[in-house]
Amino acid sequence: MKQSSPSCERNKEPILAVLREILVEPGLVLEIGSGSGQHAVHFARGLPHVIWQPTDVAANLPSISAWRDEAGLANLRAPLDLDLFSGDWPVRAAQAVVCINTVHIVSWEGVKRLFAGAARRLAPRGILYVYGPYRYADRPLEPSNEEFDRWLKARDPLSGVRRFEDVNCAAMENGLTLAGDRAMPANNRSLWWTRN
Ligand SMILES: C[S@@+](CC[C@H](N)C(=O)[O-])C[C@H]1O[C@@H](n2cnc3c(N)ncnc32)[C@H](O)[C@@H]1O
Repeated sequence: MKQSSPSCERNKEPILAVLREILVEPGLVLEIGSGSGQHAVHFARGLPHVIWQPTDVAANLPSISAWRDEAGLANLRAPLDLDLFSGDWPVRAAQAVVCINTVHIVSWEGVKRLFAGAARRLAPRGILYVYGPYRYADRPLEPSNEEFDRWLKARDPLSGVRRFEDVNCAAMENGLTLAGDRAMPANNRSLWWTRN
């Protein structure tokens, strides 16, 4: 049941450091594409003033539940089935939406649904945070991310490392304003927007 991702172990602490800085308000944090559930446990433990709501497609929920059961944290909710391609999200309102290493996995249509769905549910001044690799118009993609992009596209031609400018455009179209863009280990970025 309990899946384990080595990359989660490597990136959970640097990501938590950013989340501690930006998720200062109490409230519900909706995580999209929670994966194994390791991040949900680490972030709920590290951010005791928020309620962490993990979600993913149904196949991943047993692992998230197993991590949650073991951790026994009062501020970590049971995982919910949230597929970006199903019309309805099981959460109506959130103080923040967090989505890690998922924008390059889903198709562009999925990315657009993420931004539209998050913006609809965020409270005013609420935050959408994403983490992963991004391309920028003013500099070449890092060789490790070029290779990763080729690997992603060989697996699923609709996936791939997204252009920052496209993602930021999707955010602006949904009333979100860029609030931060920070370099992270292993050529990843933390990007976050606030709802106008
Ligand atoms: C590379 S994994 C990242 C998982 C986790 N956030 C992490 O950093 O380890 C991508 C995640 O996107 C989820 N995902 C894929 N398609 C999805 C969809 N249509 N709706 C919601 N999540 C999706 C996968 O199930 C998976 O958990």
